[in-house]
Amino acid sequence: MQEINHVAVLDFGSQYTQLIVRRVRELGFFAKLYSPEDIAEIGQPGAVILSGGPKSTSEPDAPDIDFEKLKSFQVPVLGVCYGMQLLNIKFGGSIKASNKREYGPAALKPISKANLYAGISDSSQVWMSHSDTVQDLHADCEVIAENQHGTPVSLKWPGGFYGIQFHPEVTHSHEGLQILKNFLSLASGLQAFHIEDFKREMIEGIREIVGDRQVVCGVSGGVDSTVLAVLLKEAGVKVRAIFVDNGLLRKDEAAEVQKNFKRMNVEIETVDASDRFLDALAGKDDPEEKRKIIGNMFIEVFWDAVGDAEMLAQGTLYPDVIESASNAKSKASVIKTHHNRVAKILELQEQGKVLEPLAELFKDEVRELGTSLGIEQDILNRHPFPGPGLAVRCPGALDRERLDIIRECDAIFIGKLKEHGWYDKVWQAYAGLIPVKTVGVKGDERSYEWATNLRAVISEDAMTAEWVDLPAQLLREASADILNQVAGINRVLYDISTKPPASIEWE
Ligand code: XMP
Repeated sequence: MQEINHVAVLDFGSQYTQLIVRRVRELGFFAKLYSPEDIAEIGQPGAVILSGGPKSTSEPDAPDIDFEKLKSFQVPVLGVCYGMQLLNIKFGGSIKASNKREYGPAALKPISKANLYAGISDSSQVWMSHSDTVQDLHADCEVIAENQHGTPVSLKWPGGFYGIQFHPEVTHSHEGLQILKNFLSLASGLQAFHIEDFKREMIEGIREIVGDRQVVCGVSGGVDSTVLAVLLKEAGVKVRAIFVDNGLLRKDEAAEVQKNFKRMNVEIETVDASDRFLDALAGKDDPEEKRKIIGNMFIEVFWDAVGDAEMLAQGTLYPDVIESASNAKSKASVIKTHHNRVAKILELQEQGKVLEPLAELFKDEVRELGTSLGIEQDILNRHPFPGPGLAVRCPGALDRERLDIIRECDAIFIGKLKEHGWYDKVWQAYAGLIPVKTVGVKGDERSYEWATNLRAVISEDAMTAEWVDLPAQLLREASADILNQVAGINRVLYDISTKPPASIEWE
């Protein structure tokens, strides 16, 4: 599909490229990522941003750009880091290669307070991550900002071309968002990003692709698959939503998911495969082996239930798709979510039978879409729950008794978080089992029982996480209830480990 007057972000491989797309959307405009090789597929953009990248422009295989095509758009262009260096070369300047990397904060001192730097402070912190710097500038090139050492860090060329050495997309560049906003204000007729418009387009697209075929989708009760199922229903297609109970769910979870889907008028088929999963897991204590068993069993059970699918819908999100678009040989190779790309699915994809309507959205946009589809907030704000379920919260071998204990502890802890107004403030929280017996006293008797670990973290993307300083009273109440009510537990611990080095789950 050719997009009209959106912001085209060309990906030269920087780890921050995805953030540029995000920031532009946060500013209210539609942005999409392209590989520089695909410049001919862009259509007519309203503005173009060239991202940073790990290469040096002097390397023989450094990514290039079709400069004539770029100029032919006749729209404002912003080169970030590598993007600026590339533009400088295209405009006849040169780059000084260096093997010393400048990484971290620097001061930005605008020379001209027009255009990119309208309203920007005289000296503001920006984030650098580069080794090469610009050297010779073409006569038509103007330096519009320097760093604290007087080195040029921002350039302007005729025809609406701008360059910045720093990364405006990261929050460490304090006025970065305003600089991006100033750049976008130079463009005219930019397509706004409204989730409502997006929803309308998605629904039309789904109807067109699906026709009267039946679409199967797996649902877990999590945000992405729930929004997907409701979106398909809203589009009026024939949906089969399949929910696999793997026996590793939280207390009453299968019933709750069924109840939630009923509230949304989406019928789901529940496949109770708990015995199959738990039998296969019996006695297995290696974390990787447990994961593998669960992953493979899920595929087996799900496809048994599906039978012959006319079409399959998946809740793949944008971050899964665009990980390294610039290196992509084909669209399929840029997908990183392995479970979304098993052989069976690749085969269906070849036949044009896989639908991924959320693939252009970020997580928070999926929540926004969910709201606009009328899904209630308690469903949209559920904490993420891992595919292997409680198995990653119980180190070592699993059995029904241990799972039941985790379920009880978890239900009490989550209940307390809700009661004290903390559930929506944390990214994820749970109670797990530490299957180590210690001595205690219960009533008048000596006890010899396991411990439970309570964990609550805040995070933006699960890549890093901080433990949450929960009120002592909440922890006190959760601990007392667990110790009083859960047979098999005589010790409650609170996990105060950051990620890294710990992970959020225990396995
Ligand atoms: P870790 O434990 O790696 O978890 O810090 C980061 C986030 O990912 C979730 N998680 C998983 N999700 N399959 C999933 O679908 C998995 O195997 C898996 N392992 C961890 C975890 O709950 C947290 O949100």
